[in-house]
Amino acid sequence: MERILWDAKKFSVGYTLMDAQHQQIVEMINGLIDLSETEFTVQEALHAYVKISQLVVKHFGAEEAILRLEGTDFLEEHTKSHDLFSDQLADRLAHCNGLGLEDSIKFLANWWVAHILNEDMKYKPLFTDI
Ligand SMILES: [Fe+2]
Ligand SMILES: [Fe+2]
Repeated sequence: MERILWDAKKFSVGYTLMDAQHQQIVEMINGLIDLSETEFTVQEALHAYVKISQLVVKHFGAEEAILRLEGTDFLEEHTKSHDLFSDQLADRLAHCNGLGLEDSIKFLANWWVAHILNEDMKYKPLFTDI
């Protein structure tokens, strides 16, 4: 699978901390892609999922707090999107047996690229740079 190329111009949401966290998540997905091309163990796959999950929880919490503070009218819709993804990730984590890693990577890569470009970009006009 192709690694995700981080392009700051394309992915920047205008808020430094959010950009940094998005980039970290993308790098972790790239790490999973690299792992999938090795003779990985179930423990290694599980460890990678747990690390991504921890970062995702931290990121969603920070992002939702910022949107709440800004009083955005799309907070509820945005939080629902985060919650749905969190449920799906937890489900994949619970059933991680090392099989279907490529499918999970595709799910993660597609969701994050689409979410940043379509959903997170909605708050870009609120910020210049913080
Ligand atoms: Fe988001
Ligand atoms: Fe985000």
